[in-house]
Amino acid sequence: MPVPCVRVPIEDGEATRRRLADDDLVVDEYAITASDGDLYIPVSDPEAVPEGLDVEDFDAPERETPTTPAELLGFEPTYERLGDVVILDEDDPERAREIADAVMESDVRAETVVNRASKIKGTERVRDWDVLVGESTETVHTEYGCEFELDLAEVYFSPRLATERHRVVEQVGDGEHAFDMFAGVGPYAVPMAKAGADVVATDINETAIEYLRRNAERNDVSDRVTAIAGDVRETAKDYEDWADRIVMNLPHTADEFLDTAVAIAGDDCVIHFYDIQHEDDLYDPGEAAIREAAEPEYEVTVENVRTVRSYAPHELNVVVDTRLTRR
Ligand SMILES: C[S@@+](CC[C@H](N)C(=O)[O-])C[C@H]1O[C@@H](n2cnc3c(N)ncnc32)[C@H](O)[C@@H]1O
Repeated sequence: MPVPCVRVPIEDGEATRRRLADDDLVVDEYAITASDGDLYIPVSDPEAVPEGLDVEDFDAPERETPTTPAELLGFEPTYERLGDVVILDEDDPERAREIADAVMESDVRAETVVNRASKIKGTERVRDWDVLVGESTETVHTEYGCEFELDLAEVYFSPRLATERHRVVEQVGDGEHAFDMFAGVGPYAVPMAKAGADVVATDINETAIEYLRRNAERNDVSDRVTAIAGDVRETAKDYEDWADRIVMNLPHTADEFLDTAVAIAGDDCVIHFYDIQHEDDLYDPGEAAIREAAEPEYEVTVENVRTVRSYAPHELNVVVDTRLTRR
């Protein structure tokens, strides 16, 4: 039966399959098929296929149901995927090993399996990992059509923030000045530049900034991204009154950087302020901190508040989107 497929030259097949798989678009029920020098990759939603890829109906044969880790284990394991790395969060090393083996034996395409070995720690917000399978913690992860190269042992990256980052990026206008104060490998900065913004991205982690520069190139936006390594309190000094939009994704301590954010804000500027707060009072502390830093120089309007994800029992990661308008 004809099914919608992305058609690519065979040599681009694996990269395209990964890109589509990262966006959950590959249909497992039908086989990926080669024909006349092209590869046909069955997709679930032709409308969601990234621009530039050809979709056409093709008579792909049905495939036997893939083997999942759960079928091999007899229970449903919890794991996350970051490119070709599978991430576990298991306290029991034996259970972690069992899941890692099942992942590799299953049809999940993974090169590396790691287990969390510490909490996220330090200024650079990186954690330790036990590498259970494979050697490299470096990978390429695709998020909403952008590719991010990163080493998860060297930099912060959470695939769980994809929806939130996309929500912010969708608000970005052509030609606006966007400043990402805690940019990591660029999961806000790169798509904001792709949306047409001129972006300044800073991070204290030099390795993250090296990856960010590579990611800007990889996604063809290096002409619109200025990546600067260093403490944003210093690096921001050249950008006073510059920003139309500021991203402050350093939950826990972003309030300590609000004076810097106000200094780089232009006459009309939106701040996406991320915070971790108790469920009883999620948004007021962030709003109060922003008001204290920005008033009376600016009129402060909270435009949107939102819970991003749960963080710990009774504690949530939230965002307060606030407009500063110079009086
Ligand atoms: C929670 S991570 C967010 C990274 C990125 N925005 C993302 O969504 O993946 C916070 C980042 O802030 C950086 N950072 C911490 N303190 C900083 C400072 N004083 N100046 C600049 N960057 C800093 C860390 O190195 C880390 O990469």
